Amino acid sequence: MQFETVKPIVVPNALEQVTDEQLTKFGTLIYQRTGIRISPQKKTLLSNRLRRRLRDTGIKDFGEYYEYLRRLPNNDPEWDAFLQEITTHETYLFRDEKQWEWFSREYLPSLAAEARTPQQRTLRIWSAACSTGDEAVTAACCIAACLPNFNQWRIRILGTDIGLGAIEQARTAVFGERAMRLVPESYRTRFFQKAKDANVWQARPVITAMLTFRQHNLLDRLREPAQDLVFLKNVLIYFDADSKRRVVSNVREVIRPGGLLVCGAAEGVGELLRDFIRVQPWLYRKPQTTAH
Ligand SMILES: C[S@@+](CC[C@H](N)C(=O)[O-])C[C@H]1O[C@@H](n2cnc3c(N)ncnc32)[C@H](O)[C@@H]1O
Repeated sequence: MQFETVKPIVVPNALEQVTDEQLTKFGTLIYQRTGIRISPQKKTLLSNRLRRRLRDTGIKDFGEYYEYLRRLPNNDPEWDAFLQEITTHETYLFRDEKQWEWFSREYLPSLAAEARTPQQRTLRIWSAACSTGDEAVTAACCIAACLPNFNQWRIRILGTDIGLGAIEQARTAVFGERAMRLVPESYRTRFFQKAKDANVWQARPVITAMLTFRQHNLLDRLREPAQDLVFLKNVLIYFDADSKRRVVSNVREVIRPGGLLVCGAAEGVGELLRDFIRVQPWLYRKPQTTAH
């Protein structure tokens, strides 16, 4: 009787690292596809993350995995799994509380005061790089709580992220206790339902009805109608000057004249928004007419 010989899968041992040349190659590939810069100090981190991909794909070494990845289109599930390993998805509801205070107490009341006719009751918000959707859901909660007669408005909150896994998670609108830690008690009971057998919270239909999620790379233009407000937070910190410029150019294009951009504290986009009006260190208004 003959046994088929099964080739053993050789996975680099735990101490093996990418070479400097491989680090550069992976760094260039990641940069070209996402705009994210991997610094040379991330060699160990990248090696550890890559090792997990080798284990899951059965590919034997870093070099072969690089060649495999390089040939795959951006929408291949393996790219998504790889990006999942190298990107940070940290997010939670009501992150940067003072921005939500502004959104609820200043922005929404001013919108309500300005919208005199039913046709003007339209609101388009884009949560760019939304990860698991916490920012978009927070916006929906504030609208439901603070925009008078919000159900008479046409509201669309679009959440996008490069990670398909993150988008799929966002679509479930289910959040754990950690993500929910800053949600006011009254909002929890009004806008979420606690699962019977797990410590997770499901956003209610009044919230999810406002939300749409889809995959999108910020290096590409967003093909959507003009937006009233864009959140661009905690993503450009991983980008270099060139890709920041590209992203900001794509984002500014989709903001309507007079519309607003909310940034993270460390986004570093001030120089790129010199023709915008700086309302707060984290808040920019697009002029009614701009050179762009
Ligand atoms: C730290 S999370 C930020 C989530 C949320 N904006 C916040 O501030 O809480 C960064 C997200 O940026 C996404 N990201 C990284 N590069 C991207 C790109 N080129 N296009 C779109 N999203 C990207 C990652 O997948 C990740 O989910």
